[in-house]
Amino acid sequence: MHPDDVFILAIESSCDDTAAAVLCNNKVLSNVVARQNIHEEYGGVVPELASRAHQQNIVPVIDVALKKANIPKNQLSAIAFTQGPGLMGSLLVGSSFAKSLSMALNIPLIAVHHMHAHILAHFIDEEGFEKPAFPFLALTISGGHTQIVKVSSFFDMEILGETTDDAVGEAFDKTAKILGFPYPGGPLIDQFAKEGNPKKYTFTKPKVPNLDFSFSGLKTQILYFIQKNVLENPNFIEENKNDICASVQNIIIEILMDKLKMAVAQTGITQIAIGGGVSANSGIRQTLLDAQNKYGWKTFIPKFEYTTDNAAMIGIVGYHKFLDDKFVDQSIFSKARIEF
Ligand code: KG4
Ligand code: ZN
Repeated sequence: MHPDDVFILAIESSCDDTAAAVLCNNKVLSNVVARQNIHEEYGGVVPELASRAHQQNIVPVIDVALKKANIPKNQLSAIAFTQGPGLMGSLLVGSSFAKSLSMALNIPLIAVHHMHAHILAHFIDEEGFEKPAFPFLALTISGGHTQIVKVSSFFDMEILGETTDDAVGEAFDKTAKILGFPYPGGPLIDQFAKEGNPKKYTFTKPKVPNLDFSFSGLKTQILYFIQKNVLENPNFIEENKNDICASVQNIIIEILMDKLKMAVAQTGITQIAIGGGVSANSGIRQTLLDAQNKYGWKTFIPKFEYTTDNAAMIGIVGYHKFLDDKFVDQSIFSKARIEF
């Protein structure tokens, strides 16, 4: 251990995952996530149940993160937590805990924007993973967001385009719900799509100007398509599950790629980093890899465990804010919506 080493305890509780991580500088010592299965039967996250589960999980999750990292509390340099955006009842559990612990240990407190963290997860030091150079474009795709961001430095980010309605994760999850899969259905669509024909069914792409996205029309299109076919053949979903999933995933990837190509043309930036839960999708990952040869882009795909919500990504932002003395005091409050 070096006397200048920075040890950050990071806490993420913006939605339905309770997560804690310990970082030494830009390296992850532990990264613990407690997923909440309780929402599966409701077809989506139930905010009240999420905050209750965070309340139960937060102490053991932080305890395990510290033990795995083998770092005693008094060695921590600062506590970083997700300030927003997210579900208020969920955010409050993480922020209250972070504020109390920073006061008890008398160490600085760092507030982190959840979407900045999905982007800056690329700066976690991991063998075999290169870090992007500034400026680069980030495609952040999650259950709540779909954005193309120009990232000029750690703290200078500009949204170039975003969804005007549903997020891309919702397009996956709502399609999955129509098909009768449990929540969150994105990973299941990914799994079935691997065995299917992506050209079997065609859907039309939304016409949205500039670099913005829209996914609500696609969802309705898929709903009508399924209803019509099930009326003709009650076993339609079961018999064609793989092809339906592959075709839906294919159109979603095309929509994302169309806008990325536009963003590259507009900015001249050819370094592309993806982030957010949907960047776990194997079809999206492969398409971005192929884009390196196809379009001459340099693409950055995060390690799988840093795609869906996790606290290591909060920790890496915490580390860079620590180096920049970007601290907050006890008057900080959680924000369900928060400026970028
Ligand atoms: O970033 P995240 O964990 O939480 C939010 O901040 O929203 O993203 C969750 C979203 C869900 O919509 C989930 O279905 C989707 O990411 N997702 C996937 C895959 N894994 C997670 N979507 C498609 N394919 C996947 N493999
Ligand atoms: Zn997220």
